[in-house]
Order: sequence, then C-alpha cells, then structure tokens
Amino acid sequence: MKLIKHRNFLKSIGYLLVFSCIAVLNFKANAQSNKDKPFPRVVKENGKYTYYVDDKPYLILGGQLWNSSAWPDVLSKEWSQLKELNCNTLEAPVYWENIEPEPGKFNFNEVDSLILGARKNDLRLIILWFGSFKNGSMSYVPTWMKEDIEKYPRMENSGGEPIQVLSVLSEENLNADKNAFVALMKHIKEIDSKDKTVIMMQVENESGSLGTDRDYSAKANEVFDQPVPTKLVSGLGKESGNWDKVFGVEAAEAFNAYHIATYINSIAKAGKEVYPLPMYTNVWTRENYFERPGEYPSGGPTSNMIPVWKVAAPELFTLALDVYHQNIESFKDRCEKYSREDNPLFIAEMGNGDVFARYQFYALADYSAIGVAPYGVDPFHLSPHDKRDKVHLDNKLQYIASNFSLFSKAMPQILKMQENGNLQCAVQEEGLREKLLHFEGYDLLFQFGFPTYKEHNDKTGRVLIGQVAEDEFVVIGFDAKFIFRPTYGSGYNKAEYVSIEDGYYNAEGNWHKVRNWNGDAAYHSTLPPDGSILKIKLQRLKTSKEMTIKPNFEK
Ligand code: DGJ
Repeated sequence: MKLIKHRNFLKSIGYLLVFSCIAVLNFKANAQSNKDKPFPRVVKENGKYTYYVDDKPYLILGGQLWNSSAWPDVLSKEWSQLKELNCNTLEAPVYWENIEPEPGKFNFNEVDSLILGARKNDLRLIILWFGSFKNGSMSYVPTWMKEDIEKYPRMENSGGEPIQVLSVLSEENLNADKNAFVALMKHIKEIDSKDKTVIMMQVENESGSLGTDRDYSAKANEVFDQPVPTKLVSGLGKESGNWDKVFGVEAAEAFNAYHIATYINSIAKAGKEVYPLPMYTNVWTRENYFERPGEYPSGGPTSNMIPVWKVAAPELFTLALDVYHQNIESFKDRCEKYSREDNPLFIAEMGNGDVFARYQFYALADYSAIGVAPYGVDPFHLSPHDKRDKVHLDNKLQYIASNFSLFSKAMPQILKMQENGNLQCAVQEEGLREKLLHFEGYDLLFQFGFPTYKEHNDKTGRVLIGQVAEDEFVVIGFDAKFIFRPTYGSGYNKAEYVSIEDGYYNAEGNWHKVRNWNGDAAYHSTLPPDGSILKIKLQRLKTSKEMTIKPNFEK
C-alpha cells in the first residue's frame, strides 16, 4: 500500500514536471511568435548587394498592380491571380488623395485592407507612395491642395505659367507631403511592426517635371541665381560657381534634380524616423528621347542625374529602374547605368511577355538585381462590379509565372551564386541559336530552339548557371540544350556526366533531389518548357580528342 502511494506520488511529480516543461516551452514559443519580425535591410558584401527579409537573403519576385487597382473591391478578386503569378512580393500604390481627404484627417481603410490582404495571402508588400509626384506630374495630391495654388504653389514654366507639378521649393508643399507620409508610416508601424508584411517603401513615383526643364517661379529664379550649394559641388568634386558654370547645358535639369532629390530625401528621412523601412525611388528614364529635359520628367533620377541624387538623397538606398524597352541593347544599357557600386539594381517596373521573362535572367546574372517586378500584372482597369469572385492570370504573364515558380525553388542558391559573383546566364535572342559560356575548366554550350515540337514562336530559352565546385554546376532554366566540354587547350578532351540530379532547394538552402536524369534525359540534356533545376557533376578525361559532330537537333 505504502509502495503504491509512493509510486503515485512520484507519478504526480513526473506529470507536474512534464506539464511545467510544456508550459515553459509554450510560453517561449508564444513569446517568440509575439516578437516583432526584424526589419528588412540591404547588405553589401564582397561588392554585391543582397536584400534581407526575416533575416534571410530575399529575392524580390514582384508584381505591380495597375494604378487604380489598390482598392478593396478590385483587389479582393485579384489575390488568386497573384498566386498564379508565383510572385512573393506585391507592389501596390497608396494614394495621398485617398488617405488625407481633408487636411490632417486621415483614412487608412484601404491601406489596412491592402496590408491585411497581402498578409493573408502570404505576400510581402512594397508600398508605392503616390504623393507629390506621379509620372512627372502631381495627379495624386489631395484636391484641397490642387485647388489652392496660392498656398500650395506649382512649378512654373519659362513663360511663367504654373504647371501640373508642385514646386519643391515650397515649405508648405514639403510639409504637407511629409506630414501625410509620416502619418502613413506611423500607421504601418501600428499594424505591421510584428509581421513586417511591408518590406520596403517607394517614396514618390517617377519624379521630375514634365513640361519644363526647371521651376521658373520667382522664388526658384532667386535660388537659381545663387551659387550651387557647397554640399553639392563638394559631393560631386566640382569647382564652386553658379548653376550655369558648374553644370553648363545641364544647369536647369541639375537644379531641378538637386531640389527634387532634397525634397524626397527629407520626406523619406521623416518617414524612417518613425518606422525605418528601406526606401527608394524610381525613374522615368531619359534614354530614347532628344536630350531635352521636360520632354521627359526633368530632375528625376535619370542616368545623367544619378550623381546629383546620390549627394542629395542619401536616405534612399537605391534609385530603381522602370524599363519597358524590348530592345536588348536598350535594356542592358539601362541595367548597366542603374547597377552601380553605390546603387543596387532593383527593377521596380518592367514589361511582361516572353521578352521580359528572358530579360529577368540578364538582370539576375549580369547585374545582380535584388529584384524584378513586371508592371500591370492584374487585368487593366478591372471593374469593382465585375461579377467574378476571382480573376485568372493573363496568358501574357505565363512565362514570368514560370520564372517565379522556378526561382522560388532555387532562391537561396541563386542568391548565393550572385553573392559569390559566379552566376552567368544564357538567353535566347533573335537570330541566336547558340550561346557558349566559359567556366573554370569547362566550356558550356547552350542550344536554343528546343524542343522543336513547340507550337509557338516565342523565344523562351533562358538559363541561369553557376559553377559551385571544381566539377559541379547548378543549371536553372527552360527550353535549352546544354553540352559540356573541358576548356579548350586544357589537356582534357572529354567531359563526362557523373550524375545529373533534378530537384530544388528548400528555404534553408538545402538541396532536395527529386530524381536523376539519366538515359534519354541525359543524352538529350534539354531543359523542359516548365523548367528544371539541375545539379550536375562531371569529370574530365584525357581521352583522345573528342571531335563529335554537333549533337543532332531533335526531330
Ligand atoms: C510608369 C509608372 O511608374 C506606373 O505607375 C505606370 O503609370 C506605368 N508607367 C504605365 O506604363
């Protein structure tokens, strides 16, 4: 009897201990999940930029909505097609005219539905602040500002006429925008500190002045007659003087750029003091125009004004690129200009279709882009009264959806190869059936036009490749045949597959093999239209010279 009592006593102690342990663990887990997620940040290592979200490297696989879509009755039908796009980040506008319908009175209903909707749908958000600037104009400022030109002055053209652009030399304008932006950041802090659904802010949209090369208002003329501020001349390493002397033919544009950049910098700074998310602004590029500022937004962060912006707007971590040019030379030229040592390439807007699906490969491999985002991923001007509960992704975005699906499954590896500087790409172009790449010890030839059973003429061959060890490669892509040879003249004559593994990387970056490619798959070595992620191991042999004829094209 005594023994039984003793046993029961010990049992109860045991249960008590187990329950307390569980309680402590639960408490810890809850405390953990109640903790705010860390702030996203930009990190520069080995000269390469990486964006971090939740303390992990993150590739922005984005999609931007049409301008009038960030309204609950429209957006509620669109979440499903964002899933079909396989993007991880939504870029969506917040409209100043909507959040501040009366001076100092704020409405965040639509902002809330946007943030909560994104969170529910497992998407991160980049909020686009449509404030003083939208496409070189001021269409999103509240009506009470638009209607009071006296209080909220406009830029004036050289004829002294006010235009549809706010003057950035007006304290009233600056304070009004700053006040609204700070209110927005406070609100985001309130509802999103814990989850960090919002990972980045775009401050204004394609700033600059359309219709004039600079502000010619009386106040602006007075400031233009002063010497160029010391901060700017010394930042640029130039001799001091007036605007004409320092900038010559670009004087008016540089004047506008300096003051617009200063204005946006001050808004970003005030917002970050409240809630320090990384912030950037985007550009309406000037290339392909006559070099006449005002025909494109003058004073925006155009390529010739990047140095001025870097001095005047240090709060912005990058000047992001909007690029819609389908011509490959134009695309690369812009990427070159916006991927600088002091400016990580972020393509905040790009076109869609097979062309831009291919161009994403150049952006990631040749310019180490931290992210890419096609514009207008939802149906244009979807009616809030549309009877459908959900809409489906437009066909023109299918190749980008396939890219995003594949990139998501290889993200940690792509980021690692970007950081190590060993990522290359092979991309099909008009008249380009073959692309030869060189690696240490290996030459790698890609052939496009496979598989020939394709029923369309879209150019869809696109591959990312990195050498991850002496005889190992990671190949990520679509519609291309690959053939390895040892480097010509290296003494080796044959490259033989040891294994070709087909699989994916998990979020921690660990490789999961799904199957081996062997037999016909290895013989044809052709990436399929849906894409594959391959880990390839080879060996080099010193056999007699291998002079095999080019592999046969498939029938
Ligand atoms: C660039 C702008 O930034 C977007 O908001 C949108 O207006 C597109 N142009 C339309 O092409």
